[in-house]
Amino acid sequence: MEAPILPDSQQRRVPILRDVAALRAALAGWRARGETIALTPTMGALHAGHVSLVALAKAKADRAIMSIFVNPAQFAANEDFGWYPRTFDADVELFSAAGGDAIFAPPVEEMYPQGFATALQVGGPAAASLEDRFRPTHFSGVATVVAKLLNQCQPDVAIFGEKDFQQLRVIARIASDLDFEAKIIGAPTVREKDGLALSSRNVYLTSEERKAAPALYAALVCCASALRGGAAMEQAVAAARASVEAAGFTVDYIEARHAETLAPVASTAEGPVRLLAAAKLGRTRLIDNIAV
Ligand code: PAF
Repeated sequence: MEAPILPDSQQRRVPILRDVAALRAALAGWRARGETIALTPTMGALHAGHVSLVALAKAKADRAIMSIFVNPAQFAANEDFGWYPRTFDADVELFSAAGGDAIFAPPVEEMYPQGFATALQVGGPAAASLEDRFRPTHFSGVATVVAKLLNQCQPDVAIFGEKDFQQLRVIARIASDLDFEAKIIGAPTVREKDGLALSSRNVYLTSEERKAAPALYAALVCCASALRGGAAMEQAVAAARASVEAAGFTVDYIEARHAETLAPVASTAEGPVRLLAAAKLGRTRLIDNIAV
């Protein structure tokens, strides 16, 4: 039998948990029934990329919980914490419609109460000289909040988008180093039809910038294909950089790295290779990456 179409006011809305005690009570109920749990940490402003993470969470576990928390600790003073898009009501609708089970949306004081004085110091992939070169305090803030979320939720699996590829590697590292039991799973990047990777920050692009934005992905695709065809690494990466600059970007980096360690590689023979890029279009900084 088909599900009845309910008026908006009667659509299913997931519970919203505001503190760790409520989170743990909900999780305990599920665990008592033998159900497995997938956590998808986010900062909200959900889009189709996040919906794909929920679909993966549902495929990997019985219950899908999403955290929505714009984490002040991962933004530097000159970054966009103040105007990062916040669309909580729409997020709740999207997550509910995607079949999620509960949202954990703590206020800042719940995550960082008065006297909070701990920050993880991260190395390895967090010190690969990619994002960390331009955002030196970022990964400590990400690692600290993700460690807290993994500890608060103790999920069986935790899902992160591959779009933030260095972040994914950093989180896999801390989960392993700190013995978190959760399996860290990366989910493929979801793209607009023209190739632009979905990102909550795409709303910052002007209409002119939006037209130019797919050039970043196009350059990575072209570079990856040249490398697969045997092109020399240095020339292929330089050509990608030139085409991204020609499209109006200011490039922070375009680099070929080992996909696991993020160490620099000089040729595709050195192992699974990932191309990673960050570049600014006007005031908007876009990042992207693809496998070679
Ligand atoms: O990728 C994000 O949205 C954030 O960095 C994360 C992992 C939710 C931590 O705040």
